[in-house]
Amino acid sequence: MSNYVLVTGGAGYIGSHSVVALIEAGYNPIVLDNFSNSSKESISGIEKICGAGPVVIEGDVGNSSLLMNIFSSYNVNSVLHFSGLKSVEESTAEPLKYYSENVGSSLSLLRAMQEAKVQKLIFSSSATVYNPESQLPYTEKSPTKPINPYGQTKLCIEQILHGLADVNPKWRIGILRYFNPVGAHPSGHIGEDPKQQPNNLMPLIMQTAVGRREKLLIYGDDYDTPDGTCIRDYIHVSDLARGHLSALRYLDKHEGLHIWNLGTGKGTSVQELIKKAREVTGAEIKTEIRPKRSGDSPEAVADPKKAKDELLWHPEYSIGNMCADHWNWQRQNPDGYQ
Ligand SMILES: NC(=O)c1ccc[n+]([C@@H]2O[C@H](COP(=O)([O-])OP(=O)(O)OC[C@H]3O[C@@H](n4cnc5c(N)ncnc54)[C@H](O)[C@@H]3O)[C@@H](O)[C@H]2O)c1
Repeated sequence: MSNYVLVTGGAGYIGSHSVVALIEAGYNPIVLDNFSNSSKESISGIEKICGAGPVVIEGDVGNSSLLMNIFSSYNVNSVLHFSGLKSVEESTAEPLKYYSENVGSSLSLLRAMQEAKVQKLIFSSSATVYNPESQLPYTEKSPTKPINPYGQTKLCIEQILHGLADVNPKWRIGILRYFNPVGAHPSGHIGEDPKQQPNNLMPLIMQTAVGRREKLLIYGDDYDTPDGTCIRDYIHVSDLARGHLSALRYLDKHEGLHIWNLGTGKGTSVQELIKKAREVTGAEIKTEIRPKRSGDSPEAVADPKKAKDELLWHPEYSIGNMCADHWNWQRQNPDGYQ
């Protein structure tokens, strides 16, 4: 059996960590990335960690002929589909861009996979597909009702995948609903370096700690939570990367479509995360309270039991490890990949 795995968006934050996990497990990843939100330096980081890098193809996932070329040149066994746009805020301002990029390029990928008879896929979905009014913690059966265009594109792609698996049982599809990925590879050679202004908390905390930002803005401190700030389920990106290997192995043995939450099941508030980051970094991390943002739910925590039972996957890193590894990356690379 061929062990070539096509990794769309493999130069990005979660993709690069997953490529490391794939190489370490003996797979041959092929990274397809247009570098719209990543840097070629992430590939050098992977080489430093693994001693060898993946095959890298610079190009767009929406390019059907490029995809067919890849499938005819390499005996690809499975696809990890990370590429896409991920800013909730930007998606609200430019919904069509998000539908066209996320849904449109997924359709090109699926068509090419179907034609090349490559039918094993892991798709990066998100906790944003859940209805924020649902009871916590979210299980895979919790009602879905995304409240922003980004989450809607993720759910739309999930529905397309259901449609494929329903009519052709040969498809083996894993939908991974990530909660809040943070941290970095413990080496500090790869990490999160968004080209745009980040709107997730950990990079903002660490950029404040390293002096790139004067202060951290906290949106809302009067939520109905113990300290008034929002609670999220943070998961170390290396644990998340391992989850993809476990899902691939599961799909080797099982046909059909399967959904798994990847989170720790533990909630951490904004204030708790800042406190832990202050302990780890020794930095002051000035904060300023701002009004709540529309669309932020007070709490989002996974029930990861299904992934633990079926994939035999267990997150290993604590919130302290997540802060320490993110800080190690940020301190070694204060301006990100340069
Ligand atoms: N980071 C998170 O908090 C989070 C949470 C839930 C789900 N996700 C999903 O996980 C996936 C990976 O997220 P990430 O944080 O690594 O994002 P990222 O932006 O770091 O990585 C995405 C990669 O895809 C590439 N890319 C984008 N559009 C492309 C295209 N049309 N063709 C080729 N390459 C393209 C980018 O250059 C980048 O390298 C995304 O689909 C995202 O929606 C992320």
